[in-house]
Amino acid sequence: MPRIVFAPASSGPHASMLVVSVSPVESLLVALMREGAPIRHDCGGKALCGTCRLRVCSGASGLSPMGERERARLASFGAALDGSERLACQARAARDATLEALVPLVEGEGR
Ligand code: FES
Repeated sequence: MPRIVFAPASSGPHASMLVVSVSPVESLLVALMREGAPIRHDCGGKALCGTCRLRVCSGASGLSPMGERERARLASFGAALDGSERLACQARAARDATLEALVPLVEGEGR
């Protein structure tokens, strides 16, 4: 199973990195939430809010291709569409990757 290294958003209340095993058929968000990772997902994983945005630090080529919904949501934030940013609720990993959350948890929110 691929492993992803996840870093919480730097300005959020949680600082430590997490290593999570993922199945290639589940979204990164599902895998991260299963492990209690501090990641926002305000729309519940429907590619509507963009709060699950991730910076892809390594392993971009091992992530699933970007679909139209994900592309449109990222574009609405002015994000680069070159694979350096992804939505955790839409992307899946077939190989190891290193990812960083871009949107911090709101105060009082957590595991
Ligand atoms: S959880 Fe809302 S866009 Fe991913």
